[in-house]
Amino acid sequence: MSDNIESVLHEDRKFPPSPEFSAAAHISSEEQYLDMWNRAKDDPAGFWGGLARENIDWFQDFEATMEGEMPETKWFVGGKTNACYNCVDRHVTTWRKNKAAIIWEGEPGDQRVLTYGDLHREVSKFANVLKKLGVETGDRVTLYMPMVPELAIAMLACARIGATHSIIFGGFSADAIADRNNDAEAKLVITADGGWRRGKEVPLKKTVDESMERSPTVEKVVVLKRTGGDVSMIPDRDYWWHDLMEGESADCPATELDSEHPLFILYTSGSTGKPKGVLHTTAGYLLGTTMTSRWVFDLKDEDTYWCTADIGWVTGHSYIVYGPLSNGATTVMYEGGPNWPDEGRFWEIVEKYKVNIFYTAPTAIRAFIKWGDEWPNKYDLSSLRLLGTVGEPINPEAWMWYHKVIGGENCPIVDTWWQTETGGIMMSPLPGVTATKPGSCTTPLPGVVPDIQTETGESLGANQGGLLVMTQPWPHMLRTLYGDHDRFLDVYFSRIPGRYFAGDGARRDEDGYYWIMGRVDDVINVSGHRLSTMEVESALAAHDDVAEAAVVGFPHDLKGEGICCFVTLKKGDGSEEMEKELIAHVRKQIGVVATPDKIKFAAALPKTRSGKIMRRLLRDIAAGRESAGDQTTLEDVSVLDKLRASDE
Ligand code: WT7
Repeated sequence: MSDNIESVLHEDRKFPPSPEFSAAAHISSEEQYLDMWNRAKDDPAGFWGGLARENIDWFQDFEATMEGEMPETKWFVGGKTNACYNCVDRHVTTWRKNKAAIIWEGEPGDQRVLTYGDLHREVSKFANVLKKLGVETGDRVTLYMPMVPELAIAMLACARIGATHSIIFGGFSADAIADRNNDAEAKLVITADGGWRRGKEVPLKKTVDESMERSPTVEKVVVLKRTGGDVSMIPDRDYWWHDLMEGESADCPATELDSEHPLFILYTSGSTGKPKGVLHTTAGYLLGTTMTSRWVFDLKDEDTYWCTADIGWVTGHSYIVYGPLSNGATTVMYEGGPNWPDEGRFWEIVEKYKVNIFYTAPTAIRAFIKWGDEWPNKYDLSSLRLLGTVGEPINPEAWMWYHKVIGGENCPIVDTWWQTETGGIMMSPLPGVTATKPGSCTTPLPGVVPDIQTETGESLGANQGGLLVMTQPWPHMLRTLYGDHDRFLDVYFSRIPGRYFAGDGARRDEDGYYWIMGRVDDVINVSGHRLSTMEVESALAAHDDVAEAAVVGFPHDLKGEGICCFVTLKKGDGSEEMEKELIAHVRKQIGVVATPDKIKFAAALPKTRSGKIMRRLLRDIAAGRESAGDQTTLEDVSVLDKLRASDE
């Protein structure tokens, strides 16, 4: 990538919050924000130390707020706390004991409400179950579950005893589960018979069974009964959740853990090699998600808050479970698809529970637009007071639709930029302060000091595209890649020494607002989730008939980016059958999340004289564009013409 990325987006509209919204907000003025931001920049230890003592309950106070330079900064050193205690126990000694913690709706229409008191009992019981199964502080536990309350219960139970959870999204395959089990050396897997998705059962246990053939570290499997579908249970390995819970004691005090005790691992795609096990630790992550939930979503006790993400992604970890619960909020959790039984499902849920704060992804918003205004218009959405988005840049048209049709021109929109690695929101409007511009994630939160730099680490001026970096550590940043600290240093801290860089290009406008311009590495953003083109390539290359494959993203109306695979076969020209077979093959290797949108067979791929595939040219072909850039390094120009011809 060149240092200066050209920006083509121009957007002049500005939407300030209403005076009423500002007056009632946790952060309500520009002065207050700037005061916090400057304090955090100049004295991070003072700023975060103060917040940690005010907002987190400690078994033992910490001695030092921060120790060591980025990337090795340790936070709240010497302190002892517990994330589960902060999300659950501290509320049950207050009036919140009988407040709804989780309002859950299953896809078939079943409902459950768990109060903080209920959550405390269930989590304590399940923590005892984990102990009896031999899970100890420091062990890793894999969770492969549907979006049901037991997923949150299992996470919190792990956190309660200091077991590190590794949640795998239900769209991943058996192979992907086995890879993650092995990388984390997981001792236990928690799953369900299945989950509901668009009226069909997703057979989770069956997939786990397949993964177990290649998961030698896993000793036991706990199975929640959700769908009632057929499963085979292996004696002395598989246990029903309800059998284990029956008669279990609800007395299980939270373990006192060091601030830096590993809370969870979450695997995410990188541009090379196997998935990266992003590790987050206890106190810093908890503080970060607690504060950002309050600042960005302006969470109040009266609010019904709904984040539509799946807990299998970081958004669900931070903004369905840890952040909202630490604040004692009411968080809505929905199991299934947005278009089941029809395209009005989300709006029906908003009306039914009178949701006040709604957080979703641009890819979902584009689907809502396509489905038509009649769906949201059928329901009363007047309870909404704040909207949010995450996962990819939101195009201004989608932003305006969200603002008008869902928000009734009445709700601030928080476009939140962050990553699995950052643990929590880094840049976002503050809903009571920031005048928003459609398509911009606006300004950094207190404690976040970003910059736009060249490859050599020079700061760029207004409206110059470059690399988005962080110049100061923050409490909720990842601490390492599990089992591979060298890779952690290499991936995030070597491109510009002393800076955190996780792969996005951006520019800052004349008002200091940030505009994310997308990834600069071989990572594509499909429906708001990162996928490595390299991983899809190696999956394809593992097929017996494939000689070579190159995978690129292309603009996709709904998904943001689609997956286009260029494949050279060992023999033959490819057929519709082979196309289907390769698609099925990738799904088996990685999972439905990586389903290719297009497979293009080619006798040869465009390469440089040194043999490097020229993905830039393939991206043009996939997008149906003329290639404007330099082609002089191409070894055989006729390859391109053939590829284009085959596209027609
Ligand atoms: C990548 C992180 C953070 C939870 C969901 C995805 C892109 C995320 C925005 C936004 C523009 C965004 C970036 C980032 N991204 N939010 N508001 N505007 N781009 O987490 O899988 O770790 O992906 O998503 O490219 O690097 P993730």
